[in-house]
Amino acid sequence: MALLEVKDLRKSFGNNEVLKGITFDLNRGEVLAVIGSSGSGKTTLLRCLNFLETADSGTISVDGETLFDGAEYAGGKKSRRGSASVREKRLHFGLVFQQFNLFPHYNVITNIKLAAELLAAEKLRQAKADVARRARTEKAEARAELREAISLLKAQKLPKTEFTAQKEKLKSDYRHIIDEEIPARAADRLADAEARIYGDAGETAPGVAEAKSPIEARAYALLERVGLSDKAKAYPGELSGGQQQRVAIARALALAPDILCFDEPTSALDPELTGEVLKVIKGLKSGDSTMIVVTHEMEFARNVADKVIFMADGVIEEMGSPYRIFEEPQSEKTKAFLQKSHDDALGEGEKLAN
Ligand SMILES: Nc1ncnc2c1ncn2[C@@H]1O[C@H](COP(=O)(O)OP(=O)(O)OP(=O)(O)O)[C@@H](O)[C@H]1O
Ligand SMILES: [Mg+2]
Repeated sequence: MALLEVKDLRKSFGNNEVLKGITFDLNRGEVLAVIGSSGSGKTTLLRCLNFLETADSGTISVDGETLFDGAEYAGGKKSRRGSASVREKRLHFGLVFQQFNLFPHYNVITNIKLAAELLAAEKLRQAKADVARRARTEKAEARAELREAISLLKAQKLPKTEFTAQKEKLKSDYRHIIDEEIPARAADRLADAEARIYGDAGETAPGVAEAKSPIEARAYALLERVGLSDKAKAYPGELSGGQQQRVAIARALALAPDILCFDEPTSALDPELTGEVLKVIKGLKSGDSTMIVVTHEMEFARNVADKVIFMADGVIEEMGSPYRIFEEPQSEKTKAFLQKSHDDALGEGEKLAN
């Protein structure tokens, strides 16, 4: 089964239909490159997948679970934004923007771990509330059982001393359950939840030894993966654009999304910094990440992607292997687009040469 299935996704802004029925799927570990001219709907597609926009119709499923079904929204039956469930669904996807948007007043390692820590804290708060609610219910049930047991005891019409002795025994048994057993069970549940949420860093990397938490240890491991172990304590302003974008990639990975999306990750960078970022993205592929990369870098799409989508005017004009799209394009629009990118690239080359 495909990891991601998108069916007939549609989105309009006013009466401008920007996505006109987008259907594709993506397997785990695959890289999908999305190419197409300006205004064809590439960013809108990524934003719909990441729940930053709500599509008008269609479905989005990850790992067999339907995260979005436009039919449920028809007629305004459901509220569109802000619910906890939307936030949860969003976590299936990560998005790296063109402008990396790091927090300038936090150092690199904090930028990477911050969202993961906030998320863990929120999950822990939720788990605590759940555990407390369950314990309250269990205590209420225990008290009801005790009352029931006492009234049954009364119905037996025992001699007074015997009745009192048995009643006291019942009371002390239930006091033990309510004051000892239920709180102990709650503490166990909370410890399990905490272990689940914070988990084990699982990876080792330079700096991990000084990490104060599993999340921080994981942040160091991710920093190593993007080749910036020596920059943990640097501030974004002290880094090049390419380095900042690599930190942004590590930050997106820190939330462990099923699918990592990139929206023209190199287009804000000087040409000489583009390579290092593309190399990191390429490196993630061997790490089995599933990725969707909107890009103008045709060489990258051709060499790294497993699958290429060419978008034009809100539809998938053509989709297939890089070989199919780049060597044997079928549609006139695809051919024209590739020709133009080729000419533009040559133009850039000439400019650089002069
Ligand atoms: N929030 C919005 N409100 C109104 N129109 C929008 C909005 N976002 C995008 N659009 C319109 O949707 C169309 C597609 O935009 P989109 O940003 O998805 O294109 P794109 O393929 O990413 O282009 P580019 O290559 O320039 O980034 C454009 O006509 C754009 O003006
Ligand atoms: Mg765009």
